[in-house]
Amino acid sequence: MSAQLERTAIVTGAARGIGAATAKQLAQDGFAVAVLDLDEQACAPVVDEITAAGGQALAVGADVSDEQAVTDAVAAVAGRLGDPTVLVNNAGITRDNLLHKMSVDDWDAVTKVHLRGAFLMGRAVQKFMASTGWGRIVNISSTSALGNRGQANYSAAKAGLQGFTKTLALELGRFGVTANAIAPGFIETDMTAATAARLGMEFEDFIDAVAGQIPVQRTGRPDDIAHAVSYLVSERAGFVSGQVLYVAGGPHA
Ligand code: NAI
Repeated sequence: MSAQLERTAIVTGAARGIGAATAKQLAQDGFAVAVLDLDEQACAPVVDEITAAGGQALAVGADVSDEQAVTDAVAAVAGRLGDPTVLVNNAGITRDNLLHKMSVDDWDAVTKVHLRGAFLMGRAVQKFMASTGWGRIVNISSTSALGNRGQANYSAAKAGLQGFTKTLALELGRFGVTANAIAPGFIETDMTAATAARLGMEFEDFIDAVAGQIPVQRTGRPDDIAHAVSYLVSERAGFVSGQVLYVAGGPHA
């Protein structure tokens, strides 16, 4: 077995959407994958799919913003799948509102999951990466990091993740660890379906309207992001670190 096949990846927010696609892709790439989400039961279908395809996966229930839950989850992954050397910080939520209507709870909830969550997960796994002398961290940011009406909380969190990523690249590079961010544009998931519902639009109509604004004339799919993660965690991406890759069907940043 190659060293690559012995590596263990954790994907947060992996019960559905971009996280689920990423977990399945990394399993195909030969990683044992911890499918982590708030509810362990909700991770079961993704784990079953990976296992049925001959891969190795573990369902892990944890809130990434809860320090003790993160400590316990990472210990469980290390014990049952092996030392985690790949981390994809993908868990996320939105609580959109214009600034004058945004509550402190809306602000705290969003920054807690994206920023505190990525910090806690990153801090918990870095020791396994440092001791292995190899690691890959991919943080899922967003084109909203560049500013998006109604998303003061989310855009601040996603821009913050980019700064966090660059600092991890600086601190962990000497241990063979790269850290990069992917900033997706519009991806068809439950998150964007909820946005359509909030705007009172059918999801298909919303997709058509958005696609017209995107240079490649289509919206993104979870696999578009999973493929980019697959590249960034690969051996051949070892000289790419501290970068933000916009995967949005056109130029951004
Ligand atoms: P989604 O809503 O379909 O999935 C997010 C997952 O994260 C859910 O399974 C949810 O249970 C989990 N989660 C939420 N809070 C958590 C917590 N505290 N601890 C553990 N898990 C938690 O969302 P989607 O669209 O798949 O988004 C994934 C990531 O990509 C998010 O960070 C999102 O902000 C980001 N993104 C999504 C875009 C899109 O157009 N869908 C565009 C740009 C970024």
